[in-house]
Amino acid sequence: MAKAPATVYVCQNCGKQVGKWLGKCPDCGEWQSFVEERVRASAGAAKGMAARGGFHLREVKPVAFGEVASQDDARVSSGIDEFDRVLGGGIVPGSLVLIGGEPGIGKSTLIIQVADKLSGQGQRVLYVSGEESERQIKMRGERLGLKAENVFLLPETNLEAILNEVDNIFGTNEEAAPGAIIVDSIQTVFSSKIESAPGSVSQVREVAGQFLMLAKNRTVPVFLIGHVTKEGSIAGPKALEHIVDTVLYFEGERHHNHRVIRATKNRFGAANELGVFEMTGAGLVPVANPSEMFLQERPQGAAGSVVMACMEGTRPMLVEVQALVSKSNYNYPLRTAQGFNTNRLSLLMAVLEKRVEIPLIGLDVFLNIAGGLEFDEPAADLGVVAALASSYKNKPVDAQTAVFGEVGLTGEVRGATQAQVRAREAQALGFKKIVMPASNTAGLERLLGVRVVGVRSVEEALDVLF
Ligand code: TYD
Ligand code: MG
Repeated sequence: MAKAPATVYVCQNCGKQVGKWLGKCPDCGEWQSFVEERVRASAGAAKGMAARGGFHLREVKPVAFGEVASQDDARVSSGIDEFDRVLGGGIVPGSLVLIGGEPGIGKSTLIIQVADKLSGQGQRVLYVSGEESERQIKMRGERLGLKAENVFLLPETNLEAILNEVDNIFGTNEEAAPGAIIVDSIQTVFSSKIESAPGSVSQVREVAGQFLMLAKNRTVPVFLIGHVTKEGSIAGPKALEHIVDTVLYFEGERHHNHRVIRATKNRFGAANELGVFEMTGAGLVPVANPSEMFLQERPQGAAGSVVMACMEGTRPMLVEVQALVSKSNYNYPLRTAQGFNTNRLSLLMAVLEKRVEIPLIGLDVFLNIAGGLEFDEPAADLGVVAALASSYKNKPVDAQTAVFGEVGLTGEVRGATQAQVRAREAQALGFKKIVMPASNTAGLERLLGVRVVGVRSVEEALDVLF
């Protein structure tokens, strides 16, 4: 008797597999995220690859640690500084990079610009598109003023066909390996070996796994574009994070002119590295000095607005935090935070109430990090506390002052990482005073043109600021 095809229910949010349908995923907590998927019992789907006429598998043997060639010198510049920066210093041949973000945020724009730069260096780039026709891509490229002579466009969604084309176009000779392979987007590509629909977790995982092998075998960088959607109907890039080497996310919203790209995972460099671009008529333009840009629209002398010196990866960044504290008309006062953790906000409010007698209970509190950035580093605490106090007291903080420091439960101000770097960034941007943890001020006494004030507690900090 023929065995019925195995059916599993897969959470489209996190990839959890269960035998029967569940309303809520026990792993990630998402509701209504399980979809029935059929999996073929394909033991060694990976090995099947070569057999079905895909690319050639390179023979591998154990290599002594000392004899393994270091990859770092092999990095290739993408020709776009900010993109190199998020990748940890350039493109690593053989790496699989996932670029995620909301639809319309600029993923295709960025990647065609990268393709064009690589093409300009004489490298061949294969651009597989399942979303747009060659003509649409060409039109975008022309609008961006790109030549992209060595970029080959392939409108195809079948994985096996794509892998065949890779061999057809570039040959099986590794010498002729392409400069990069781009897949836009991973959710449109499907393997005919798997029965579930394109975009389902099983499909995107299989497809990503095959591209991983392709990348490693040919030592070619592969960029996978992935849409992040709020609803669970399409498997998000989350399900792929463990497969790929590097994950880059477009942060923030489409409504801002700037675009922030963050490396949330990087096997080849520092995670959390940030790249900042501006979306213009000529595509994405790198922003060399993000602090300057983020502070551009800052209201000077307004209560509730404070500049904090934060770190994003290895880069210091000055950003404005705004707080609005107002009388509530509700039994349950509103507490909202954009770009900052709400639990952390509640904790800091409790510290203000208990340690410096600023009672925020019963008041609506809104907090916003300007520019759509997100911060989860502890050193942002003091800035948030200062902004809350400033709005509560209705007294502005001096516009030439920057703050940073972690706040503890007893109201103590604790040291932060990279204090020197933060302080120098504030100095470079013309700030005259820095209020920071007292334990961090060593070596900063003689910072030219800046008064460095070390504080030990929230109380001390507020005394200095108001
Ligand atoms: P796109 O790269 O197609 O987004 P994604 O691939 O992430 O879905 O970007 C589309 C948006 O970018 C679209 O709303 C128009 C805008 N855009 C510009 O503002 N300037 C440009 O030069 C280009 C090409 C796009
Ligand atoms: Mg696109």
